[in-house]
Amino acid sequence: MSDTAVSLQNLTLAYGETVAVPSLNLDIHKGELVALLGPSGCGKTTTMRAIAGLMTPRSGTIMIDGVDVTKVSANKRGVGLVFQSYALFPHLSGFENVAFGLRLKRTPAAVITQKVEAGLELVGLSHLAERMPAELSGGQQQRLSLARSLVMEPKVLLLDEPLSNLDARLRLEMRTELQTLQRQTGITMVFVTHDQAEALALADRIVLMKDGVIEQTGTPEDLYNRPNTVFAADFVGFENIFKVSGNTASNSMVIASDTGELNLNYRSDASHLAWRPEGVIIGSGPHAGVVAGVAFAGNKREYVITTDAGKIRADVDASESAVQIGETVSFELPESSARPLREAL
Ligand SMILES: Nc1ncnc2c1ncn2[C@@H]1O[C@H](COP(=O)(O)OP(=O)(O)OP(=O)(O)O)[C@@H](O)[C@H]1O
Ligand SMILES: [Mg+2]
Repeated sequence: MSDTAVSLQNLTLAYGETVAVPSLNLDIHKGELVALLGPSGCGKTTTMRAIAGLMTPRSGTIMIDGVDVTKVSANKRGVGLVFQSYALFPHLSGFENVAFGLRLKRTPAAVITQKVEAGLELVGLSHLAERMPAELSGGQQQRLSLARSLVMEPKVLLLDEPLSNLDARLRLEMRTELQTLQRQTGITMVFVTHDQAEALALADRIVLMKDGVIEQTGTPEDLYNRPNTVFAADFVGFENIFKVSGNTASNSMVIASDTGELNLNYRSDASHLAWRPEGVIIGSGPHAGVVAGVAFAGNKREYVITTDAGKIRADVDASESAVQIGETVSFELPESSARPLREAL
């Protein structure tokens, strides 16, 4: 038995003339929670639709549990889908919404009762089984739609931005619950989001997409700390990204933005270097800039500094005294916190 739940091989997905995904290769392991991350239009939903069988690939192969399902219809793939809109039946109770798919499959009544009760229990809704969807909060409706998919015991559960309709607090709560649920059931999940914080918090592995192509995959820590390209770095919050425009001597180089340059007293062979705001040192260092903005953010202050190489974002511990707008500060872009990048794949 292989431990691959879903295998996408040379998958080309197109809408008429529009090729949304040119050639995708991705293996998802059993029990894994994979987050598909990327900007709007990068092909996340298209990829999910193809796995679910709602879209026929132009070419390539989709395997589920080792079986080629490329030509198998959606309802025979054992794939569950949860979308951003809950799509609950408004005229059915919570219980009946969850039971719906099982009734379609002509499951015996006693088994339905048992499975629905277990499903509702899993998402913490047992006490609200008789309520109609309109009598439930957004988070409860979302959990109901999860339970409805879970009782079908899918081999793979696909979740397309399932939390995006929820307010910030509920979203955080549901995020944790989803993760717990995934650990409890061991179900393979593919979770789509364009929110990097959500992907980092939830996933075993992140697949970052750009224009239908996988830009980088890795654990949340990998991606957060070691993005490889300018796009990936930008996506995971390296707010200061510069082009290395040339090594000037054996131990120095010039980095450049669209608006100017800075000389640094070390060298890099990378095409670009990036610093997180917390990787920039303020208050000492070889460079000078003018504070253009400062925002208090609880445990830190967020500075925008105008420098010879344009605006730099720097975060400083809030226990340090504040520098005022208009003041000149010295700063450093340390070699130790510089992330080397490639321009593109
Ligand atoms: N029905 C369609 N007909 C034609 N083109 C489409 C269709 N659906 C999507 N596309 C195109 O395919 C590409 C990928 O779309 P997709 O919906 O997969 O993006 P996404 O990553 O899910 O974006 P979002 O974060 O906005 O949901 C986009 O360029 C989009 O315009
Ligand atoms: Mg989408």
